[in-house]
Amino acid sequence: MDQYVIKGGVPLKGSVEIGGAKNAALPILAAAVMCDETVTIDNLPNVRDINVLLQAIEEIGAKVERTGPHSVKINGAFINTTSVDNEFIRKIRASYYLLGALLGKYKKAEVALPGGCAIGSRPIDLHQKGFRALGAKCVVRGGLLSVEAEHLAGNHIYLDKVSVGATINIMMAAALADGRTVIENAAKEPHVVDVANFLNCMGASIRGAGTDVIRIEGVKKLHKAEYSIIPDQIEAGTFMFAAAATGGDVTVKNVIPKHLEATTAKLLEVGCRVEEEDDSVRVIAPAQLKHTSVTTLPYPGFPTDMQPQMCIVLAIASGISTITESIFENRFRYVDELTKMGASIKVEGNIAIISGVERYVGARVSAPDLRAGAALVIAGMAADGITIVDDIYYIERGYENLDAKLAALGAKIERVSSEKEIQKFKLKIS
Ligand code: EPZ
Repeated sequence: MDQYVIKGGVPLKGSVEIGGAKNAALPILAAAVMCDETVTIDNLPNVRDINVLLQAIEEIGAKVERTGPHSVKINGAFINTTSVDNEFIRKIRASYYLLGALLGKYKKAEVALPGGCAIGSRPIDLHQKGFRALGAKCVVRGGLLSVEAEHLAGNHIYLDKVSVGATINIMMAAALADGRTVIENAAKEPHVVDVANFLNCMGASIRGAGTDVIRIEGVKKLHKAEYSIIPDQIEAGTFMFAAAATGGDVTVKNVIPKHLEATTAKLLEVGCRVEEEDDSVRVIAPAQLKHTSVTTLPYPGFPTDMQPQMCIVLAIASGISTITESIFENRFRYVDELTKMGASIKVEGNIAIISGVERYVGARVSAPDLRAGAALVIAGMAADGITIVDDIYYIERGYENLDAKLAALGAKIERVSSEKEIQKFKLKIS
């Protein structure tokens, strides 16, 4: 297993280009198979989850041509099965987007159910509620969720809880159903809007994405399109918090500042200076960070995917801060790791009470999941001494070249795969 080894204490300085949004790209790749013509997708992040999904799409017969590290052409005309199962697809939750895409196009699909997840139980009852409302039968057998409809017909669907995945999945199936579908209490995340825009480019008729009521008029078929994925607000926010935690000055480029408003608001509260331009945001850290409180909420609230990164900043801010995690029940698993680095945090239910300490001390820690892993890397860069982050497999599911991008900002970080390489890094650094 590979690790990151980091020598902390260097304020990050400079600018970094943000890639395409993983959580928009995953459903967009699934949606690309919904037509029988070639779809071209650009600004694709080159990360593990994306590559696993592309492989699954290829395995069911679609033509997948990687035209560059960040672009792909997909043609769904050659799909020969609607059953998707392999060892890898079970490991990525976004495989469930193939349910909505294939159900819409072929009126049936069977996809391996994602197993348990590090950040909490991840039910898909709302996805099924939506498919059933459109006329599909949903059956679980042999670890696969099977959905099938004789006829898909538009309907009125109220989501009991705001869900990104259910909103997108229902939108995809409804795009090719007969008649009108209305999704109420829909998720408003930028990636929901991006998927709706992509489907509309393919000829779908979706209105209201970005509000809590989405209206979809079903069309008979979709056609080819060329599309560029929106920038990743979570990758951008991760670098913004890294600037704050290391006492740095970083400009994130190729972003949509509007998508970063909740992150920006919290950075201002902790004392950072934030300068927005059309497609970039500069974060300048203060000499001393200040405490604050944050609650994770669906967009436009503060994203749960940014919660661990924010905690890294608060744990070295003056005074007592709190974080309330309202989306996933198990998103504080990094706290024990951070404690090894000197943080003082008490978790009570879904609230973390954080007493700011002066600084982190380097330690050997392990990434419990994707965003918490990235957060521990930030802590390592802010720490005195050497930090080793194990299990970076999780981080690489969603961050492209994180080490190289950080190194370009001045961080002393290397990706290593043995104890010998760790020793070599330590020697080099000293
Ligand atoms: C998406 O997950 C993201 N994943 C997650 O990002 C992100 O944390 C999450 O949205 C929230 O923003 C992808 O886009 C691939 P939800 P998703 O359905 O769609 C409950 C990352 O780090 N719920 O919006 O699965 C659920 O338990 C990942 O990139 C139901 O009860 O999340 C949660 O409490 C991690 N029933 C809430 O809704 C359902 O059928 C929101 O989940 C579905 C969800």
